[in-house]
Amino acid sequence: KVYKIAVLPGDGIGPEVMNEALKVLKTLSDMDSTFDYEITEFNWNTDYYMEHGLMMPENGLKQLKSFDSILFGAAGDSRVSEHIPIWELIMPIRKNFQQYINFRPIKLLRGLETPLQQKEDIDFVIIRENAEGEYSTSGGKMYQGESRELAVQNTIMTREGISKVATYAFQYARDHKLRKVTNATKSNAIIHTMTLWDSVVEEVANDFKEISYEKYYVDAIAALFVERPKDLQLVLASNLFGDILSDLGSAIAGGLGVAPSANINPNGEYPSMFEPVHGSAPDIAGKGIANPVAQIWSLALMLQNFGRSDLHDKVLFSIEDVLEEKRTLTPDIGGKATTEQVGDAIVRKLQKR
Ligand code: NAI
Ligand code: MG
Repeated sequence: KVYKIAVLPGDGIGPEVMNEALKVLKTLSDMDSTFDYEITEFNWNTDYYMEHGLMMPENGLKQLKSFDSILFGAAGDSRVSEHIPIWELIMPIRKNFQQYINFRPIKLLRGLETPLQQKEDIDFVIIRENAEGEYSTSGGKMYQGESRELAVQNTIMTREGISKVATYAFQYARDHKLRKVTNATKSNAIIHTMTLWDSVVEEVANDFKEISYEKYYVDAIAALFVERPKDLQLVLASNLFGDILSDLGSAIAGGLGVAPSANINPNGEYPSMFEPVHGSAPDIAGKGIANPVAQIWSLALMLQNFGRSDLHDKVLFSIEDVLEEKRTLTPDIGGKATTEQVGDAIVRKLQKR
């Protein structure tokens, strides 16, 4: 099989870090005769928007649909307001391609530092519901009038949506030999949607007897991230809770320069999308000092999604080899190297594996 990959570098440091990820991809294919790919690059970014008044062509989603996967950089540029790339490019892809899983590894790579007191193992994943929940357009301003304004924001949770994300989480735990799933809830205070969430998650948990299940209030989990992260293996969370916990997670595991993510359509009906957590970083764009690790790790997640855990592991170990040596690091993690030097160093480690 030749994997067809749509590459969207985007703006700012997006194309800079994407370049390094593509070097890694080429190296893998050169080394492994069973892995072939074909990339098509799309220049749907702010320049494209300035010229066409759209972030992507009218038939953009149709063009992307036939790919096995989408590798995304970052989009956003001071020439347009921040919501444009989000609502005209990133969200339409996530929603139309039913990428209802947001997957974030929270793993302190070998060689990286955490701001936490305890330097114990940090290695778990967050699986966040990515399509419904608290982020809905339902609601509105119910009552107008000075000092009497009232706004309502509805959370939409469906049995089907909860069941799908919970099943994905437990299946992931089973496939990766994890012993425990931790449900992030708040059903003591959010009494309608979160109680449905809990009951559906518990039903799914019952189908996975070998994996232990625990329910924790989300505020307590936030504390756990800081005090005892090694107790966590997989955190299952709703859209809002998962969003907040993910940022806390990247903060304890080395920061934005090294935080990857995946937006997954599990049944493979549509392409999934892999992207670093960070944005286009206009403050350092063009200087050649952006950390490419988040983008390269996102590429590794794509390979894992293709069923090539072997290639994923090779890439991750090569990244760790470079980090651990500490000779070739970008300034955000305490070094003086350029984006390109870090990418080249990772490629050299890869060639030795
Ligand atoms: P940002 O993530 O671009 O930058 C935040 C800070 O982290 C900056 O100081 C930046 O220099 C640093 N940083 C980020 N990635 C880095 C890397 N790989 N290496 C070294 N340092 C790195 O977030 P910000 O500044 O809030 O947003 C900038 C633009 O990016 C905005 O237009 C925003 O809308 C967009 N954005 C796009 C996202 C996406 O494409 N998914 C996600 C977040 C923001
Ligand atoms: Mg966020």
